[in-house]
Amino acid sequence: MPSERPFIIVAIDGGAAAGKSSTAQALSGRHQLLHVDTGSFYRTLTLYLLKRGIRPDEPGRIGKALSNPAVATELRGREARMAIDGEVPGEELRSGEVNAQVSGFAAEPVVREFLLDYQRGQAEFARANGFSGLVMEGRDIGSVIFPGADFRFFLEADSGARSRRRSDQGQEDSIEARDRIDSRRQSAPLICPEGAIRIDTTEMSLEEVIEKVSALIQSKTA
Ligand code: C5P
Repeated sequence: MPSERPFIIVAIDGGAAAGKSSTAQALSGRHQLLHVDTGSFYRTLTLYLLKRGIRPDEPGRIGKALSNPAVATELRGREARMAIDGEVPGEELRSGEVNAQVSGFAAEPVVREFLLDYQRGQAEFARANGFSGLVMEGRDIGSVIFPGADFRFFLEADSGARSRRRSDQGQEDSIEARDRIDSRRQSAPLICPEGAIRIDTTEMSLEEVIEKVSALIQSKTA
C-alpha cells in the first residue's frame, strides 16, 4: 500500500457508545488509516487480569501480573489488535463481565502506564504496514496519547441515544457507570481536550457523522 499523502494522526475521544468505533472504522477505509481501538486494549488487559483472578482494586497484583506478558500487535483487516502472550481475544472482549470491570482497571495508573508506549507505538506499526496514518479512538487520545494529533475529535450523545445504540447491538453495557468512573478518575480522565472539535451525535445518523468528520479531514489533507 504505497502512500503519497502525508502521514496523519486522527484522535477520536468520547464516552461509551458515542459512535467512535463506527466512525473510526469508516475513516480508516476512506483515508487509508490504521484503525486503533484503544478500548479493546483496555478490554484485553481486563480479560487477562480477570482470568488470573485479579480485581481492579488490587494494584499490587495488577503490577506484578503486567510485568510478565509479551504484547504484540496483529493486523486484522485495517485494525490493530493486541496480542497478549500470543493470543488475540475475540468476542469475549465485549462480555458483560468485561464491560462491568474494564473502567475499574482503566482507572489504575499501573494499567495506563503499561499501555502508554504501546499505544504511541501504533504510529510506527501503521507506517511499517504502509498506511497513510492512523485513526485512534479512546478516552485520552487527544489529551494524553497524541495531544499533537493532526485532528482531534470529541464525540458525544445523550445517554438515552447511547443506551439505545448498545441495546441495538445486542450488548449488555453499563454506559453511565463506565462514563462516571472514566470521567472522575485521577489518571487521564475522559475530557474534551482544549482545541478538539466537539460533535454532538444525538440527532445525527452515523452517515452524517462520518461525512462531517471525513470532510474536515479531506479539507486539510487534499
Ligand atoms: O471504548 P470502549 O468502550 O471499548 O472502552 C472500554 C473502557 O476502556 C472505557 O470505559 C474506559 O474505562 C477504558 N478506556 C480508557 N482509555 C482509553 C480507551 C478506553 O480508559 N483511551
